[in-house]
Amino acid sequence: MKKYTKVFQGTAFSSKSPKEVQILKESLFCINDNGMIEKVVAPEDADYQILLDAYQGLENFHCLAEGQYFLPGFVDLHVHAPQWAQAGTALDIPLYDWLNTYTFPLESKFSDLDFAKDVYQDVVRTLLANGTTTALYFATVHKEASLLLAEICAEKGQRGLVGKVVMDNPEQNPEYYRDVDTQTALADTEEFILAVKELANSTKQGVYPVVTPRFIPSCTDDALKGLGELAAKYDTYVQSHCSESDWEHGYVQDRFDKNDAFALHDFGLLRDKSIMAHCNFLNHDDADLFAETGTAVCHCPISNAYFANSVIPIAHLHSKGVDIGLGSDISGGFSPSLFDNARQAVMSSRMLEDGVNTVLPAKERGVPNSRITINEAFYFATSGGGESLNLPIGRLTENYAWDVQIIDTTIDAAKLPIFYANEDLHDVFQKIMYLVRPENIREVWVQGEKVHSRV
Ligand code: GUN
Ligand code: FE
Repeated sequence: MKKYTKVFQGTAFSSKSPKEVQILKESLFCINDNGMIEKVVAPEDADYQILLDAYQGLENFHCLAEGQYFLPGFVDLHVHAPQWAQAGTALDIPLYDWLNTYTFPLESKFSDLDFAKDVYQDVVRTLLANGTTTALYFATVHKEASLLLAEICAEKGQRGLVGKVVMDNPEQNPEYYRDVDTQTALADTEEFILAVKELANSTKQGVYPVVTPRFIPSCTDDALKGLGELAAKYDTYVQSHCSESDWEHGYVQDRFDKNDAFALHDFGLLRDKSIMAHCNFLNHDDADLFAETGTAVCHCPISNAYFANSVIPIAHLHSKGVDIGLGSDISGGFSPSLFDNARQAVMSSRMLEDGVNTVLPAKERGVPNSRITINEAFYFATSGGGESLNLPIGRLTENYAWDVQIIDTTIDAAKLPIFYANEDLHDVFQKIMYLVRPENIREVWVQGEKVHSRV
């Protein structure tokens, strides 16, 4: 019989398609040395009992207790790690003022590596405790502190994709917080890419460098061009903010006479490995360009409610072939939990739907077919994130990474309302998605290694 490094037994939920959740009842998940799922064995399969007899009682056999379930780890496609220090505050003003009043002053403090270490250790720990096994991070302009964030991800076992933020435009960025000049911004980015690639060799789960122009206003044309070239040279991920707010969208129109999507594309920044946050003002042509280039949209439903008063029609975008994932956008979004963001994604989508409203005329009531289900929100938080990054993550199926959260529905402090002995598992899944709190996340595993435990 084939030897596996670890074998897990229990009931799991995983996306089969955007609308359909697959229930893997009491299955065996056989994990290899690389932390990948090599085989999933169902109770009705011929080798189920043989495997169970061979592994039960061994140290590398992990069996869930009653009321516990496996869920894929979440993929958060947009987190500003330094902004964790102000999460839950400062959401009283529009984006432009928010950046200048609160955010740039905070981020400028990350030249201090001791402060950076405190915040970065805490944000990575917190995201893991909330079930996020992969995170796409903006750090700050500081090369050393950005590298420190990648090192902390590597050390704590999170699959971190990290960007040193580029802000070289003296007309838009304050003197106290920007790259020294364009050449330095590009040279620092290149050194950062090489250092993270080197660091990745020492990790099992992988850490990745990300080319990160903060957004178009932050960068000169030369920087945007140079960053596009670096992304191509090193075949890296790219992240930025795209068409987020009225002000930002208008600024790009004034500067380039086109929308963000086409402007970014002109600089080589829309690639198969590009993830663009927000995208509130995407039009049909922009969406087609995203689909053609393989660029993904990161939907940030909590943040969009504050900075854009906006609900993007993710169901429509997805049906046009655009990859979609979910992002917390800490701290434009206040919550580090993708459970919270999945819930908001569903609720926001229902507000976009054409509904009953006796005050507004019919045509102003909303957009038909906008609503998404909790199954779709779960898909975007897991499988959709994996597809956006082109990584085999976000599903509990063969040849995917063993990135899981073990949900305990029974604990005293946060017991879920499950009262029937044989409650329908689709209902259990929905209760988990709507009601789980961090207390219910008992363990988190990344690439076959335990990275968080409440016990
Ligand atoms: N646009 C440019 N910078 C930021 C940021 O830090 N957060 C958000 N939400 N939008 C931005
Ligand atoms: Fe953001």
